[in-house]
Amino acid sequence: MKRFKINFSNSSTDYYLVGDIANLKKIIVFKDVVFITDENVFRYHKQKFKGRNTIVLKPGEEFKVQATVDAIIEQLIAMEADRKTTLIGVGGGVVTDITGYVASVYMRGIKFGFVPTTILAMVDASIGGKNGIDVGVYKNLVGTIRQPSFILHDHKFLNTLPETEWINGFAEIVKHACIKDAALFRQLEENSFKTFQKKKDTLRDLIQRNTVLKTKVVQGDEFEKGERRLLNFGHTLGHALENQYELSHGQAISIGMTYACHISEQLTGFKETSRVVNVLNKYGLPTYASFDKQKVFEVLKMDKKRERKEMNYILLSKIGKGIIQTIPLKKLEQILSEMS
Ligand code: GLY
Repeated sequence: MKRFKINFSNSSTDYYLVGDIANLKKIIVFKDVVFITDENVFRYHKQKFKGRNTIVLKPGEEFKVQATVDAIIEQLIAMEADRKTTLIGVGGGVVTDITGYVASVYMRGIKFGFVPTTILAMVDASIGGKNGIDVGVYKNLVGTIRQPSFILHDHKFLNTLPETEWINGFAEIVKHACIKDAALFRQLEENSFKTFQKKKDTLRDLIQRNTVLKTKVVQGDEFEKGERRLLNFGHTLGHALENQYELSHGQAISIGMTYACHISEQLTGFKETSRVVNVLNKYGLPTYASFDKQKVFEVLKMDKKRERKEMNYILLSKIGKGIIQTIPLKKLEQILSEMS
């Protein structure tokens, strides 16, 4: 397997972007490994975990909570996991977030790696080191930033990926295109799900392009003091909607991106909302929604990008160019309440 060593501020991650989970034993000593996965992945790929210490979680964002962390820690204790143990999260974003978080706190920190099994986890959730859990309706309120030792892509997992998960993944791909990559945006406009589902090489190139894009942004600003904030495009409103309205992450940020485009029209002179809306719709994502503005604003105020009475909101000046704009909370509340 070809390895790329990616350096972060005080650690590095080995990327295997054309990998096979069966080859994991070439890069890690299995007797020290505990796999963490969820029931969906386990059901389809049971044989891959045969004879291995494996913790199987219930699937879904509602289980990305402290109670699941406690249950995992109980199982690690029962398995006599120690500081030599490596946790390997095999799954989507919930599995990778929770694996990274448990590994960051168990015995004050043990090694961990990821085999992301969804498009969203490959291009986004597994990259960047942020991990954590939700607290009530507040997404990712508790967590750490700690990089995995390795990330391995095995595209065979995508053969069992449901359509809803394809849609989720493309929301983050559209986001990357909007904030950083106008050529990628055009590629998304010119193609469709069918192209990417049929042409494996085109899909591999798309996933790698997005993996590299996100990795470069994180490398430039690992602890999110500036540029990395761009990756939150669509997420401020999206996160406020996600757990309140039981939307998938992709659906929630898609609505968030749509409204961020309209806010951009007012504040940056952005003129291409309809192109963004068309691409989101093309990949099966929702754009406009009716929601309780006041209730959503109350949750939105707790977003981690708030600094006292201002919010660092991510807007677009044009497609491929995201910008960070500081908006007073009062003004943001007014803009949102006036939107239909
Ligand atoms: N784990 C996702 C991120 O760091 O952005």
